[in-house]
Amino acid sequence: MIEGARILLGVTGGIAAYKAAFLASRLTQVGARVDVIMTTGAARFITSLTFQGVTGRPVHDDVFGSLPDGRIAHVNLAKEADLLIVAPLTAHTLARLAHGLADDLLTVTALACTAPLLLAPAMEEHMWQHPATQANLETLRQRGAFIVGPLSGHLASGASGIGRMVEPDDLLGAARYLLGRRGPLTGRRVVITAGGTHEPLDPVRFIGNRSSGKMGVALAEAALDLGADVALIHGPLAVALPWGVEAVAVESAQQMCEAVLAQQPTTDVLIGAAAVADFRPAAVAEQKIKKQPGGGGLTIELVRNPDILAVVAAQRALSGRPLVTVGFAAETENLHANAQAKLAAKGLNLIVANDVTASDAGFGVDTNRVTLLALDSPPEALPLLSKAAVAAQIMQRVTALLRGQA
Ligand code: CTP
Repeated sequence: MIEGARILLGVTGGIAAYKAAFLASRLTQVGARVDVIMTTGAARFITSLTFQGVTGRPVHDDVFGSLPDGRIAHVNLAKEADLLIVAPLTAHTLARLAHGLADDLLTVTALACTAPLLLAPAMEEHMWQHPATQANLETLRQRGAFIVGPLSGHLASGASGIGRMVEPDDLLGAARYLLGRRGPLTGRRVVITAGGTHEPLDPVRFIGNRSSGKMGVALAEAALDLGADVALIHGPLAVALPWGVEAVAVESAQQMCEAVLAQQPTTDVLIGAAAVADFRPAAVAEQKIKKQPGGGGLTIELVRNPDILAVVAAQRALSGRPLVTVGFAAETENLHANAQAKLAAKGLNLIVANDVTASDAGFGVDTNRVTLLALDSPPEALPLLSKAAVAAQIMQRVTALLRGQA
């Protein structure tokens, strides 16, 4: 989990050092403890005061230095770190890390550190493409370093090419992903459906719904935090995809169903958070439907879509997969009774019931108020929580259900 994680952020001497200040700030805002180590090159681009200001912690740069409590800096910074990020990473420090040099605080600490290493290279295009840089990169990759970027775009030289450091939010996502890798769901595959479906009427129109995909995306983030491999099968989303998720974009309920079934043999947990259209137009017009002369209305015949969770339940009876299935019940009345009925009808281990008429829960908003219902335990009514917090609670229940199956 990134909240409470101890992150070491090495900053080297490139123009993208200003982005490292955003990164340090974002990491601190999400609850990580960030200790910054600057190289002498970095200090030419940005001052330690900036990092001290955004992290609220002292900044380190002296290889012979000690921490405010007197302990040796490099040994203890390395020992306490959950993750070491170097951003921006210059060609020079990349080479020093690849060759195990230890001539400043950052490289000494990197040698002493056993935490995962996340690198964000940033340099001029030809430096990046140079065989020496590429060979050094390969050495680090082989050793398990996680490398993000660089991107193509505008470079400090004024030219356009590959070499730009990735944006701080991407690094935040990568950091969160890496910090989750040793969680209790490591090695487990979680498949989540999210967003609404679009049922086509003609080449330009569809029948859709108000789902934003926020709950499904929050679940994907929570599952990643616990170390799972996560596939998100999603309709149109109003939110960004989490870092490290395997995204499968679909439009219609039928496509979503096919995508879920394709994953089923390897799925440990399936969570149906999508608002799937129960009906689709019986026929999709090949051309745009025109108004009829004379001002008449239009009647559209709808036919039933597959119920994805019910189809999965039938398959599961044969294959035993997924091991755990979770559904949602979006209701406007008789919340518990309707949810219990869906739990049984769809062969679920857990159902998340929510009253979508409440203005602070359900479609589009960032909060949700749900009750968790399972076959053999009393309903658990959660208070009004952020969708992220609801997702974390659901994933806790999922983890316990999986453990129960072991
Ligand atoms: N669901 C599904 N396939 C469908 C419809 C719904 O897999 N064709 C899933 C949803 O993702 C959710 C659960 O079933 O996890 C319940 O969805 P909901 O819309 O609340 O209920 P429905 O089953 O569609 O029943 P109704 O619309 O009659 O309330």
